[in-house]
Amino acid sequence: MAQSCRFLVLTLLVSFGALNCASCLNLTYPDFSEEYKGDFKDKGNSAIVKEALQVTYDLNDDTLLTDLSGRILYKNPVRLWKKKQVASFNSTFVFNVSPVKNRVGAPGDGLAFILTEEMEVPHNSMGQWLGIVNVSTNGSSHRSIVAIEFDTKKSFPDDLDNNHVGLNINSINSRNKASLNSTGITIASERNLTAMILYDGVKKTMNISVFKGHFVLADPPVLSISDIDLSKYLVGKVYVGFSASTGAVSVERNCVLEWYFSIDDIGEDPKIPIWGWIIISVSIVFALCGVLGGWLFFCYKRKPKLDGHDLPIISGVGPKKFKLKDLKGATGNFSENRELGRGAFGIVYKGTVEGRLVAVKRIKNTPKGLQNLVAEVTTIGSLHHKNLVELIGWCYEDRELLLVYEYMHNRSLDTLLYGEDGKLSEAKPTQDTTLSWKKRYNVICGVAQALDYLHNECLKRVLHRDIKASNILLDSDFNARLGDFGLARMFKREKTHYSTKEIAGTPGYMAPELFLTGKATTETDVFAFGVLALVVASGRKPGSQNEDDESIQNIIDWVWQHYSMGTISNAIDPKLKGNCDERQAKCMLLLGLACCNPNPNLRPSMGYVMQVLIGEASLPQVPFEKPAFVWPAPSPSFTHEDSSSGGVLSIITTLDGR
Ligand SMILES: *[C@@H]1O[C@H](CO)[C@@H](O)[C@H](O)[C@H]1NC(C)=O
Ligand SMILES: *[C@@H]1O[C@H](CO)[C@@H](O)[C@H](O)[C@H]1NC(C)=O
Repeated sequence: MAQSCRFLVLTLLVSFGALNCASCLNLTYPDFSEEYKGDFKDKGNSAIVKEALQVTYDLNDDTLLTDLSGRILYKNPVRLWKKKQVASFNSTFVFNVSPVKNRVGAPGDGLAFILTEEMEVPHNSMGQWLGIVNVSTNGSSHRSIVAIEFDTKKSFPDDLDNNHVGLNINSINSRNKASLNSTGITIASERNLTAMILYDGVKKTMNISVFKGHFVLADPPVLSISDIDLSKYLVGKVYVGFSASTGAVSVERNCVLEWYFSIDDIGEDPKIPIWGWIIISVSIVFALCGVLGGWLFFCYKRKPKLDGHDLPIISGVGPKKFKLKDLKGATGNFSENRELGRGAFGIVYKGTVEGRLVAVKRIKNTPKGLQNLVAEVTTIGSLHHKNLVELIGWCYEDRELLLVYEYMHNRSLDTLLYGEDGKLSEAKPTQDTTLSWKKRYNVICGVAQALDYLHNECLKRVLHRDIKASNILLDSDFNARLGDFGLARMFKREKTHYSTKEIAGTPGYMAPELFLTGKATTETDVFAFGVLALVVASGRKPGSQNEDDESIQNIIDWVWQHYSMGTISNAIDPKLKGNCDERQAKCMLLLGLACCNPNPNLRPSMGYVMQVLIGEASLPQVPFEKPAFVWPAPSPSFTHEDSSSGGVLSIITTLDGR
């Protein structure tokens, strides 16, 4: 009955203790078997054997038990105090101190529960020093160790007796002490004793109780200490555990069998002061802003904004922005049988949008493709002329670059001149595929008008930069419509050229100076127009100044040769034989040669070309010999003189001779 009552009280006490310690570090060792060994560090003459902490060795040979000192500590330091806050702890352990039987000397020297800054056992801390201090560290003012000693030997004059409890602070001399003799408990008795050390960090009190046996409630504490602020004597983080020693004559076995330690968790010191945290947070915010900014910038760079308002819309009649799904619907989801043509830029599809036939150009999504789309929308989007292809709208969505043009029933000039596959039309010389002279003349007039408009009449000067047969589209009445403004650039009127690092245009249509200067000018457009005029009148391909294929003679050289030899009429497209105004055709060829003058200063303007075509001006003089290409180009007045008398510093190339 009494037994069960005790058990109940004990259980209550345990639960109270647990409740008291809502957040704390708990070390619970009902024994020190293998599984717990790793939690400890044994120093000096100590070991963990026989499932107990042998704070000094438990050796069979009694003669080896002399002059030992050891420490066994929990491996991690615990937080004892922080600023004004001191943790409360409860260290309860079952220990056994056994004197050596049949030995002459008295038992000694004792065991202690310690809280220490330093794990290592001090040198020469055996005997009276209990493994706590040595002669040189004894009484030091350094905050290094606090011990609750269970002393079994009177070693100093002021040592109470050979069976007492004491509180030692950086010293072997106890600050507070109490003899156990009156309690009937003998430390060195070979009996298991339980010690309970309770420290209250708030009240700054310490109570030390010693019980006989295993968890048996005893009378009030043997030692009650008030006004003991451990933060004054120890560093904030300390190791906890045990120390013990034996002397030269007095020996004993010192061991701990069970240990229950709990300490309030008062948290760690903020290692970084408040201002440190502020600096860190501010830097993190800045870093995040930087990353976000960079990301936005990246996105902005990658995907130039193409919302309607970024593109010029003149008087509200600019090209319309289409939805991708509408254009997919219009072209049967870009179906193959709607294909009108394809090129390096992408593919053109036939479609119907808002009940109107359109050609949808699907541009390859490359940086250049996007550049071309922007060029088209910003140039022809704002231009209106009967000889320009109307850009109805555009779409830039989901990585698709699309341009919507009015549909041209008769496709492009090159398909009509050379046939479907770009083969010469001789391949299928049916009446239908041969473009009549009237139509050809009309086409050239249309292109000239369009160019004159671009160069001289619209608000800003526009250079097309890519005049060629495949860019001339024909409507249902075979009227020329200039298209493909992918390379076009707009200028303020004063500016006369566009310079670029990469040379743009189509070989065969490019003026010789373009290769030297890289500058697109109205004159380079005129040159390309000249080549186009020769192409239309002769039905030949332009040939290429760059092409490896030497067999295709450059069209300019070929026509010029005929002109020099007086056989210019042989240059007229043989398919037109007998079915053309030969005078008009010769005029067109000569006009073409005039436009292809290697000296850009001698090429007529588009305005002058227009006047010639409508018969209001006479043909410009065309030299019988093709002039050599001289750069820098001589001014018109200069070149009328003998060319050998000047231009000493000129670079003479044979580009045209190839
Ligand atoms: C101290 O810990 C021991 C062992 O866990 C326990 O039995 C005892 O009740 C505790 N004392 C207090 C006051 O919490
Ligand atoms: C006391 O212990 C310290 C630390 O181990 C050591 O440096 C010192 O030499 C020791 N003093 C003596 C007298 O052994």
